[in-house]
Amino acid sequence: MRKLLTGAAALCAGLIGMPVSAQPADGFPVEQVEAGRAQYNRTCAQCHGRNMVNSGTTIFDLRKFPADQPERFVASVSSGKGNMPSFKDALTRDQINVLWAYVASRGGKGL
Ligand code: HEC
Repeated sequence: MRKLLTGAAALCAGLIGMPVSAQPADGFPVEQVEAGRAQYNRTCAQCHGRNMVNSGTTIFDLRKFPADQPERFVASVSSGKGNMPSFKDALTRDQINVLWAYVASRGGKGL
């Protein structure tokens, strides 16, 4: 029964997901988005908020980060920006890449 329900949920998600899959930021493998979510919770959520939700007044609202600017994302996270520290020594390029999958896919929800 559980298996059946999981299958039905996957099918629904697939159907609902269809229209957004044409968006440029979509199409990140689920494993990457999930790895990014875990990394985000460890290193970014304390400032940017759980599920990227924060007041958006002094901290950048990551849900609004342009999905077509991966270079800017990597540069800002590596070098830091304003009150955000540099993560150059704390994160590998792979870790930054999965963070990008998480942010650009809006936590796997698509745009
Ligand atoms: C100490 C708090 C803090 C932490 C931890 C933090 N940030 Fe930030 N972040 C900020 C602040 C403040 C800004 C706004 C910087 C500005 O524009 O002056 C920002 C801005 C950003 C931006 C926008 C940069 C741009 O190009 O405009 C991105 C992307 C970002 N953060 C990603 C991350 C990611 C990914 C992590 C986890 C690895 C992270 N941040 C961790 C505080 C933080």
